[in-house]
Amino acid sequence: MNKKIAVIRGDGIGPEIVNQALLVLDKIAEKFGHSFEYDDVDMGGCAIDKWGDPLPKEMLDKCIASDSVLLGAVGGKKWDGVPGNMRPEKGLLRLRAGMGVYSNNRPAKIWRQLAQASPLKQSIVDKGIDFIIVRELIGGIYFGTHKTETVDGEKKATDILEYSESEIERIGRIGFETARKRGKRLCSVEKSNVLDSSRLWKSIMHRLAEEYPDVQLSDMLVDNCAMQIVKDPSQFDVIVTENMFGDILSDEASMITGSIGMIPSSSLGNTTCGLYEPIHGSAPDIAGMDIANPIGTVLSAAMMLRFSFDMAAEADAIEAAVDKVLTAGYRTGDIMPSDANEAKSCKRVGCSEMGRLIVEAI
Ligand code: IPM
Ligand code: MG
Repeated sequence: MNKKIAVIRGDGIGPEIVNQALLVLDKIAEKFGHSFEYDDVDMGGCAIDKWGDPLPKEMLDKCIASDSVLLGAVGGKKWDGVPGNMRPEKGLLRLRAGMGVYSNNRPAKIWRQLAQASPLKQSIVDKGIDFIIVRELIGGIYFGTHKTETVDGEKKATDILEYSESEIERIGRIGFETARKRGKRLCSVEKSNVLDSSRLWKSIMHRLAEEYPDVQLSDMLVDNCAMQIVKDPSQFDVIVTENMFGDILSDEASMITGSIGMIPSSSLGNTTCGLYEPIHGSAPDIAGMDIANPIGTVLSAAMMLRFSFDMAAEADAIEAAVDKVLTAGYRTGDIMPSDANEAKSCKRVGCSEMGRLIVEAI
């Protein structure tokens, strides 16, 4: 198959980790007889520097015209001073909205080789961590009105959180469908004891539940969910939640699996053109040092093959290669065991060496 992939290297460690993912894709193309064509897209801080805009229209158009988009990470201290609507992150939000990718899928799964790296007690980890957060991605407080004004001599800032029935229903369906393909348990997370938008959310989830009798629906308040994720993560199969709650809970969920550097994500709308990115940020403090973990991005490329290109065997090959490299003891700094004794059986490698090992293992 021929596929055209829009590639956004972005800022900070973005270019290093994306380069490794492209080498992995090249290897897959060679082994399985595909051809992947890469089209570079500027987005984030680098686009502000080059074009004065975090996502120029032609760049968004290139993404929409592609078969899918692979993204590293954007942002950094350098652009902290720019106005809110011109920040690097705004480019990412405009990209998500422009592509219409309302459903963000973030798996929290512990790799058995990294069980020691989890900050949770062994007895909790042993019960298993394998769930998915389905996060609504293009609505809610991220996309409501943002304003800062002066009222009665003091500054006042406002961010509006709104959701319509149809926005909730379409992400709810993804939650139910995802659960149906897995353990058939869906937990809807909201703050219905305080927020109107959450009360609407909850009522729609219950209406949808009647169409999915094979899926067991439960409700959980977001504050309780934050607690349950560290107390007993084995209770979760699929969590469906709104944009900001999903942002926060997915960072928490990634941490208990050992490292945020390992977690990929997919974002899809109504077409197969998706956006694939690791869930970590641009880590400017370690940019250019060749020590970042490229696995989150490599696994994002695997998700692209599986969910957008219908290439399950190819995706399996990447995941198996990562598994093999971890089993052989190779670790980037973020996943090195902190215990000196355990570290003895591991080999610390940099970003490009980790990429090379994965390519070799395919
Ligand atoms: C994420 C990130 C983004 C978000 C930022 C960079 C805008 O934290 O993908 O989780 O909040 O969605
Ligand atoms: Mg986040």
